[in-house]
Amino acid sequence: MSASTPKPRRYLELTPEERAVYDQLDPQRIPRHVAIIMDGNGRWAGKRRLQRFLGHSQGAETVQYVVETASRIDLPWLTLYAFSLENRLRRPPEEVGFLMKLLHLYLVKNVKRMNDNNVRIAYIGRTHELPPDVQETMRWAADATAKNTGTTLTLALNYGARAEIVDAFRAQLEQQLAAGRTPQEIIATLKQESAEENLGHHLYTAHMPDPDLVVRTSGEFRISNFLLWQIAYAEIFVTDRMWPDFTGLNLLEAIEDYQRRERRYGGLGTPAAEAAPAAGAAPSAEAAPPAEPATILASR
Ligand code: FPP
Repeated sequence: MSASTPKPRRYLELTPEERAVYDQLDPQRIPRHVAIIMDGNGRWAGKRRLQRFLGHSQGAETVQYVVETASRIDLPWLTLYAFSLENRLRRPPEEVGFLMKLLHLYLVKNVKRMNDNNVRIAYIGRTHELPPDVQETMRWAADATAKNTGTTLTLALNYGARAEIVDAFRAQLEQQLAAGRTPQEIIATLKQESAEENLGHHLYTAHMPDPDLVVRTSGEFRISNFLLWQIAYAEIFVTDRMWPDFTGLNLLEAIEDYQRRERRYGGLGTPAAEAAPAAGAAPSAEAAPPAEPATILASR
């Protein structure tokens, strides 16, 4: 980092280890949105011969540390996969009940810290299917932090990406039918170039930029129905650490790794990243006129 680049206002609140990693980062290329699949609470507990529940409790502590580091580096958007639709449907009711209580306690305990860190809390998912008392606490926490202007912490709760796409499509259809569009007109809008963008306006995440970086803990190389639409071009970072062992320092390390990636969005890389031709070699293909595919095949 050059001496003239201003540091985040709360740089000195980072730990010395975090500052050492932050100093290696390009502050112009901090991701706008990091999304995390928090996995491994159960295994973390199992390795310590503890009950799974204790892994989740420790995982909730980790959430707060990671959120606070994110806020200290001015990360605009942090989205955490806290509870999937599949978790609700496929885990034993006692575990689901525990996770709901933990969420309630987490919010009650941490709203003050969120305000101290200028963090705004929001949610995505079919949250209307969660227990009414939990929904009430969620609304309270969102309202109590709504005026904050730093990091937006979005908790994905009762969330599934396929369900989100279905919900978006339904909302879009309802809107078009309410506007008096005929089925033929609706189909015509789906053929327009703006069709993807238009559907994006109906996703739960319509107000956010797409994630630049997805982090998954516990070493699994899976996306598990998380933000499938939005992560089309995200970089993915997988760490073997179990979520309760993940720290703010690890978040910064993931960002450091992200900054070493070259993002292409389906295009070509920057010329510097292409292999440099050897001295005296023919000019690069970029300088030459494009060859006909038939010519290339015939020369083999
Ligand atoms: C995966 O661990 C994690 C979850 C199912 C839920 C994530 C919940 C937390 C981090 C704690 C609560 C969060 C908040 C915001 C209060 P797992 O149980 O699938 O672990 P395993 O794969 O090792 O069994």
